[in-house]
Amino acid sequence: MDVDVRFARVKEARAVHRILMEAFGPYAGKVKPPFQVFQETPEGIAADMRRRRHRYAVALVEDVPVGTFRLTSAHSAKRGPYWLVSRLAVLPEFQGRHVAHRLIDWLHERAERHQVPELRGHVRTALPRLIRFYQHFGYRVLGYRSLPGYPKYLTVVARRLK
Ligand SMILES: CC(C)(COP(=O)(O)OP(=O)(O)OC[C@H]1O[C@@H](n2cnc3c(N)ncnc32)[C@H](O)[C@@H]1OP(=O)(O)O)[C@@H](O)C(=O)NCCC(=O)NCCS
Repeated sequence: MDVDVRFARVKEARAVHRILMEAFGPYAGKVKPPFQVFQETPEGIAADMRRRRHRYAVALVEDVPVGTFRLTSAHSAKRGPYWLVSRLAVLPEFQGRHVAHRLIDWLHERAERHQVPELRGHVRTALPRLIRFYQHFGYRVLGYRSLPGYPKYLTVVARRLK
């Protein structure tokens, strides 16, 4: 299966939204606190893309978007600039066919080209398989985030540029 990866265009916000809803749908009502992605709309995604607040990558099979992630440039006073990956998602019928693998490889190539010293991912601590997924790609646990009533609900994983 040929998979192309590139940044999403604003007109693809609806397709990105659909992938997110289908991929994260099984977590609805099960993972607490609820994923903010469920509040997202295609218009909100398009507005973030236009303002360059976030970029979204898309993985395409025969020109149809089947996978995505969100990329946000950020800066840590201690560790310098980094790119934050969130909302990694693949349509259920395309899962297990290395689409996420292609997305992550593309991200790593891009980060190396742009000399971004660190990549980070936000993963729910309640989903240890996903932490292992990131570890598989060379990420390690950097720390945790908490909310009132939800200690360490988020695991921050990071990978330094080689
Ligand atoms: C997690 C997700 C993005 C993986 O996408 P995918 O295209 O099915 O993953 P791939 O087929 O590219 O798998 C890449 C590698 O990770 C492993 N892997 C895949 N899903 C995994 C999982 N859930 N946990 C642990 N390892 C996993 C695979 O074995 C594969 O290893 P290999 O390349 O050595 O064979 C997809 O299952 C998804 O959209 N899930 C729902 C949304 C979600 O949980 N997003 C992540 C939020 S942090």
